[in-house]
Formats: sequence, C-alpha cells, structure tokens
Amino acid sequence: MNKIRIAILASGTGSNAEALMKKAQSLNSVEVTFVLSDKVGAGVLEKALNLSVRHFVVTKQSDRREHEQRVLNLLREYRIDWVFLAGYMRLLSLEFLQTFNGWHGGNSQVVNIHPSLLPAYPGVDSIRRAFEDGVEESGVTLHLVDEGMDTGPQLMQSRLPLEAGESLADWSVRFHKLEHQTYTQFLELVALGQIPTSPFEET
Ligand code: GAR
Repeated sequence: MNKIRIAILASGTGSNAEALMKKAQSLNSVEVTFVLSDKVGAGVLEKALNLSVRHFVVTKQSDRREHEQRVLNLLREYRIDWVFLAGYMRLLSLEFLQTFNGWHGGNSQVVNIHPSLLPAYPGVDSIRRAFEDGVEESGVTLHLVDEGMDTGPQLMQSRLPLEAGESLADWSVRFHKLEHQTYTQFLELVALGQIPTSPFEET
C-alpha cells in the first residue's frame, strides 16, 4: 500500500516538525516526504537532516507567485497528499490552495497549528500577547488553512490554563508540549484513516 505523503512547511526552530517526523517514522502508513523552509539556516532543516528526512529551502522571491509556484512544483513532483504548516510564517494565497486542493478532489488538505484558542490571538507572539493580557487560559488550535491569517475551519482545540504564578517561559514550554501532542495525534488519525485522505491525483 502506498504511504500517505506529507510535506511540512516551517520557517523556524522546527520543534513541531521534529515531533511530526518522529511520529511518522513510528507509523507504517504515513511518511514525511520532505520538509521545506523559506529561511536559509532555519533550525528545522538541521532537525530534518538528523532524522534523514529530505529537506528544501525555497527563499523569498520578489514575486509571491513565483515563490508559491516553486513550492507547488515540489508538492507536485513528490505527489504530496497533505501539507502540514508548522511555524511557517507566510500566508498561502487562494490560488496556491486551489491548485493544491485541486489535486485532492477539491478537499482541503493543508493544516496549521497555532498557539491560541483561535479566533483569539492570531498572528505572531500569540503566547506572549495572551500572557501580557493576563488571560486565565489560552490553548492550541489545529485548523484547515485558508488564505487568511490563522483562519480556516477548526479541527482540534485544546485548552491550557495559566497556573498561579507561572512564568511566560514555563507556560511556553507547556504550550509547545501541547502543540506536539495535538499535531501528532492528528497525524495518527490520518495514518489510521480516521481522517480520510484524498490521494494526490493530477487532473
Ligand atoms: C509554534 O508555536 C507554532 O504554533 C507557531 O510557531 C511556532 C513554531 O515553533 N505558529 C504560528 O504562530 C502560526 N501563526 P516550532 O518551529 O518550534 O514548531
């Protein structure tokens, strides 16, 4: 049986990507086919290297369409079934999503993890902003990606209360653990077929 093929797009450290790559290596029916970063020297690239996962850099182009076309070319070449965003700090255009989802019967197969209870605190520095606002709790959201900033239909959400006297640093550590748990749980559901995959098919 063909494995379900996943591409991870990430811009930074890559702790979520690492958790996903390790989990995929323990499952028979999925593989992380490649990791792609838009940043030369991003930590995620070294993590992919250490886990023997193919990795690419597609740096920012002056023209957004040109950049997205290069990414799409790789997704097509490797017949990718799902795109998992893991700290990928770029928006994807509607055209990009329509092209990719068009290879999957029009189904949305691009997902993103975000460290807040969306729609609260979209964008960057979500954990810090929630902390500085003095919220009692925040959480983690996994959602399908649309062309907006951390918008799109939600798939999973987990709450993370701030404990009395907890520092931002300690809360952040717990956030990342919860993100890794949430994302790898989703990966397992995909691997088990409990979340159905429309395989890549060029029309
Ligand atoms: C994660 O907290 C992820 O949820 C967040 O970037 C971090 C990347 O960490 N993404 C966003 O804020 C998307 N808007 P990582 O590189 O260690 O996985």
